[in-house]
Amino acid sequence: MISNLAPSAWAFFEASTNRAPNGSSPGIDGQSEPARDHRFRGVPIVELPTPRPASGSLADALAGRLSCRQFGGIALDADDFSTLLHGSYGVLGTARTPAGKMLERPIPSGGGRYPLEIYALIRRADGVPPGVFHYAPHRHLLEQIGGPLPWTSIVRLFLDQPYLAEADALVVITGVAGRTLSKYGERGFRFLWLEAGHLGQNLSLVAAGSDIGCLPLAGFYDRPLAELLGMDPNVELPLYAFALGRPSCDGRGQRRSVRG
Ligand SMILES: Cc1cc2nc3c(=O)[nH]c(=O)nc-3n(C[C@H](O)[C@H](O)[C@H](O)COP(=O)(O)O)c2cc1C
Repeated sequence: MISNLAPSAWAFFEASTNRAPNGSSPGIDGQSEPARDHRFRGVPIVELPTPRPASGSLADALAGRLSCRQFGGIALDADDFSTLLHGSYGVLGTARTPAGKMLERPIPSGGGRYPLEIYALIRRADGVPPGVFHYAPHRHLLEQIGGPLPWTSIVRLFLDQPYLAEADALVVITGVAGRTLSKYGERGFRFLWLEAGHLGQNLSLVAAGSDIGCLPLAGFYDRPLAELLGMDPNVELPLYAFALGRPSCDGRGQRRSVRG
């Protein structure tokens, strides 16, 4: 039983379960909602180029997706980051609806709250200096919030997984919990990981369509990673991460190979 295997997880599931209608609202009325997106003022920015237009079919991207663990070769460049970030979590435009203006984005978001943020730890990339960056989707640019760090110290935060040694970058998806909790209460906490999954799949498919290697990562030390990104883990949580780089070999089996 789940309650025996993971009692705290079960307690959360119970606390966030929608019960049969009884008139009570699952949301937390009157809670103020945090700002909808982060903006780091007075930091260096890197304007990203226009994303590459989509090429190839969705069927090809789905068939090509895999967890790449062999990185190396030519460095990723600013075009690659632009295409990956815009394709997975960019702002594509706005649309008028009977209920008002809505954003056009490549992922759905519970109540249109968009609780996710993206950070990039860049080791090497043509056209982007190494360092710690936040992606500003509304302006499609990178805000530099930290300088370069020894790659080995970053890899340590990801449980020293050997596959990351030659990756060019790590992308970390975080969730600003208050954006959904203020509307949905405890249940909104579930939405953070659901939405991170949407974003992560977009990233994986865009990577597959551009022959960029991409490895999903849930193996990391939560609090030290939050600290590295300069966030208060009582407010914003790392949810999911991805290693990125050029695959160093051909063949689906070889690219995926897990080292013992
Ligand atoms: C939530 C999640 C977390 C994962 N974390 C890791 C990880 O920390 N390290 C790793 O090498 N692979 C990780 N993976 C990749 C899985 O091992 C991989 O998806 C699985 O073996 C199937 O292979 P495929 O993605 O190539 O089809 C993760 C996948 C998911 C969905």
